[in-house]
Amino acid sequence: MRSINKLRNNNPDNSMNKFFSRRNHVFLLKSGRFHSEPVVIKFYSEPEPLEKIKTESRILNMLQRYQINVPSLILTNLNFIIIEYIPGTPVSELGLNINKGSWIVALAEWMHKIHNIPSKNKKYVFLKGDCNLRNFIYFKNRIYGLDFEEEIYGDPRLDLGEICFFILDVHSKDPGRWEMIKKFITAYENCSGNKISHLEKFINQSFKNAKKRRKLKKDSLEH
Ligand SMILES: Nc1ncnc2c1ncn2[C@@H]1O[C@H](COP(=O)(O)OP(=O)(O)O)[C@@H](O)[C@H]1O
Ligand SMILES: [Mg+2]
Repeated sequence: MRSINKLRNNNPDNSMNKFFSRRNHVFLLKSGRFHSEPVVIKFYSEPEPLEKIKTESRILNMLQRYQINVPSLILTNLNFIIIEYIPGTPVSELGLNINKGSWIVALAEWMHKIHNIPSKNKKYVFLKGDCNLRNFIYFKNRIYGLDFEEEIYGDPRLDLGEICFFILDVHSKDPGRWEMIKKFITAYENCSGNKISHLEKFINQSFKNAKKRRKLKKDSLEH
């Protein structure tokens, strides 16, 4: 916390903006004396911030090696990481506005690329995990993924179901949202050459997980 305050004090000219985050402290540092391009600084919350820093740095470097679009890692420290700033539109905004444009295909392609990374025993694939649509940015016809605090391998439908859940969320009766999902899954199937079966089960599971998460949050606010 002390280093966040120090950072604030060093930016009296308001060259620092805070992004929305429920868990961490994430800021945009506009270009200044020490860096010519804007960068993002992410301070991690308890528990185990150092573990999260190590994991996120390792995954960002790994995904860059696979030429998957993620922000470049600029600096790692005991309290924070500094990464490249990706300007562009958060996918959460596109999803909210029922935009059925080419971002959907780009997101399916991005997902398919990460699902091409196998686990050591080759039984599972690398998963994005936390597919909140705020964790994707659409920039120059490409998707960039953000937020990799956990390294998880598993069935790719866990990610796909979660993306679909976040597109639907509380608006599941809206036909426009089902069309977005259909376009997303068709694009993913075209990339992978495989049909995705039983996805409803995974979407329902994501609904249940979100309900639990939101109840926990509500309870903790009430106490
Ligand atoms: N490299 C980046 N470029 C642009 N925006 C970013 C970048 N990193 C984070 N953000 C913004 O900050 C928010 C929070 O960062 P994130 O890494 O997702 O942390 P959290 O774990 O707190 O969700 C993101 O939803 C996004 O809006
Ligand atoms: Mg996030």
